[in-house]
Amino acid sequence: MTKSGVAILGIYVADLAFRAARQPVMGETILGSSFSMGPGGKGSNQAVAAARAGAAVTFITKLGKDNFGDAALAMYAKEGITTRAPQDPNNSTGAAYIFLEEKTGSNAIIVVAGAAGTIAVDDIEAAGDVIRNAKIFMTQLEQPIPAALRALEIAKQAGTITIFNPAPAATLDDAIYKFCDYVTPNESEAAMLTGVSVTDIESARKAADVLLKKGVGAVIITLGAQGSLFHRQTQSLHIPIYNSGAVVDTTGAGDAFNGGFAAALARGEDPVQAAHFGSATAGISVTRAGTAPSMPYKNEVLERLKK
Ligand code: RIB
Repeated sequence: MTKSGVAILGIYVADLAFRAARQPVMGETILGSSFSMGPGGKGSNQAVAAARAGAAVTFITKLGKDNFGDAALAMYAKEGITTRAPQDPNNSTGAAYIFLEEKTGSNAIIVVAGAAGTIAVDDIEAAGDVIRNAKIFMTQLEQPIPAALRALEIAKQAGTITIFNPAPAATLDDAIYKFCDYVTPNESEAAMLTGVSVTDIESARKAADVLLKKGVGAVIITLGAQGSLFHRQTQSLHIPIYNSGAVVDTTGAGDAFNGGFAAALARGEDPVQAAHFGSATAGISVTRAGTAPSMPYKNEVLERLKK
């Protein structure tokens, strides 16, 4: 059987984004300058980024049987994303509080996974065919860790290429790494996983070496405005950022990178080329507001790569 497309396990939440000069301190109320609501959740954002980048995507999650859950399914239909996303009558769809700093577009987030927080190993077994048939499988850590671990194991055993985006940062058993062809932390996640303080490309290289020793195939550490490090036994390269205009909102930049990277790998690009595609995807996404809605289409990314 020919493997194709990208399967992604993760969560969908409603993003509630508040723009203000600063965050309130405890006990304080401040006036913000704008509010917006839209689709979010790292896995879901990655699914949108990968689909817009031209991949056939199946998204595996759990939703609530509520308005947010219905909105998620309508969005996947519009984006051409296939789903394994049962609606749980007993738990509501999750939500994220996103603080956006007016001056910089930087963000701070609290996310509650809701129904997707109940994704269990049994749910992963039920979606095993989707994972086995995909060319690429990708997940993060917003749903429970045992689900991520089992899904990566199923994928690896089936010869599906695995991408593990360990976000948000968590303490992990090293057993997970042997199932990972690619691990894609940002600087703070890489520091948490390795104990190496990551501030630049050189320190990222040290952290990436620790992850290689744990059994990972290749490491990509994203470093915000400093670009990213692509690191494997035979090769260690700095991938630049693709500045595409004024930064409006950095939320979801990592998801853009991962979604673009996965889509490029799925169509057979070599991993370094795919990392450039991911970086350009992220570079465009930060010039637009929102997370999933900010993801660019394949032709936009290819145009940016040509410049
Ligand atoms: O990576 C950005 C995402 O993290 C947001 O969409 C928010 O929902 C949180 O999950």
